[in-house]
Amino acid sequence: MSKLNQNLKPLILAIDTSCDETAAAVTSGVSVLSNVIWSQASQHAEFGGVMPSLAQRMHEERIDWVVSKAIAKSQIPIPKLEAIAVTAGPGLAIALGVGISKAKELARKLNIPLIPVNHIEGHLLSPMANLGNSKSEIKFPALGLVVSGGHTELVLIKKIGEYRILAKTQDDALGEALDKAARMLGLGYPGGEILEKMAKFGDPKSYVLPMPMSQSPDKHSFSYSGLKTALLRLSASEGQSLIGDAPTLSKQQICDLAASFQNRAFQHLERVVIRSIRDGEHKNVRDLLVGGGVAANMELRNRLRALEKELGIKVRFPYSKKLIGDNAAMIGIAAGYKKYDLRYMNYDYEKIDRKARWPVDQDFSIE
Ligand code: KG4
Ligand code: ZN
Repeated sequence: MSKLNQNLKPLILAIDTSCDETAAAVTSGVSVLSNVIWSQASQHAEFGGVMPSLAQRMHEERIDWVVSKAIAKSQIPIPKLEAIAVTAGPGLAIALGVGISKAKELARKLNIPLIPVNHIEGHLLSPMANLGNSKSEIKFPALGLVVSGGHTELVLIKKIGEYRILAKTQDDALGEALDKAARMLGLGYPGGEILEKMAKFGDPKSYVLPMPMSQSPDKHSFSYSGLKTALLRLSASEGQSLIGDAPTLSKQQICDLAASFQNRAFQHLERVVIRSIRDGEHKNVRDLLVGGGVAANMELRNRLRALEKELGIKVRFPYSKKLIGDNAAMIGIAAGYKKYDLRYMNYDYEKIDRKARWPVDQDFSIE
């Protein structure tokens, strides 16, 4: 029998090991009771990207500690937990596997349901964390924008749990493009944050980079690989040596190139968002929820906020930096909405498996 009580805010232990953060959290509705994240980013830095086998090993080493810490911090006694939520995809298959195995083990031990959650849905709903009563201000349908290292998607949130992808990237994700640009400029990995810092001291008009997709009839896609190639050529012509090498450019050149690249990358993002709101059948949408690692970027936040008046929308970001990058609290929040949906009340734990590619507009299907 289900242990779920009839309170509207089930106590959920959530786990996410989709990429290079080992994360666990306890949530109750949209309230975040704990949110523990162990980042492996520095371990992957020397490889210039995430090494799947290293990620798996480090998740295995850390998962028990992270889960225990999340439970302890929440001050919720273990028998009170009502469900386990776990990211089933999208993400690195062998990394996802670690979180899923741990979630199955715990769900079995506690005899509570296991809820598979889509990582992108977590990012989409992350601005709802700790919203309290004001969450009723969010009107659905709303728009969601996920800008992370692996995804760049604009999504129509018809209602929570029902999504339609309006625009996605044809090649690189925005965060991935910023990381690659930072690497070309000798700024290390992951580079989005340091690129932002350098860009603050640069002039975005100092170099001319092409506007992505400007010649394309497809107005509802993102693309960053052309911009990346243009930066590679430009920095080489300015004297930068091989990719990944220590910079041979002056500090000012690096700042100017960073500012020019970031400016174009964000202009492109804004254009697609503006078009979707203005031209699509989404004119009535009043809220834009923004999540994912790149949402930490102040320049991007300011630009999106500047659209509020122009488009008559309210732009909402997660309340804390720990909700922006990969975390498990967002997974718990997404799972909370599925509480009374029988499709997700799963005690047949073995039927839940990783789905490395899982579009957010598709249900988790149990074959
Ligand atoms: O959401 P996230 O932590 O992981 C994924 O699901 O991918 O996003 C990581 C991405 C990386 O590409 C990182 O460079 C970028 O977010 N990022 C930033 C900033 N902080 C993190 N990009 C731009 N400006 C930042 N301040
Ligand atoms: Zn993510």
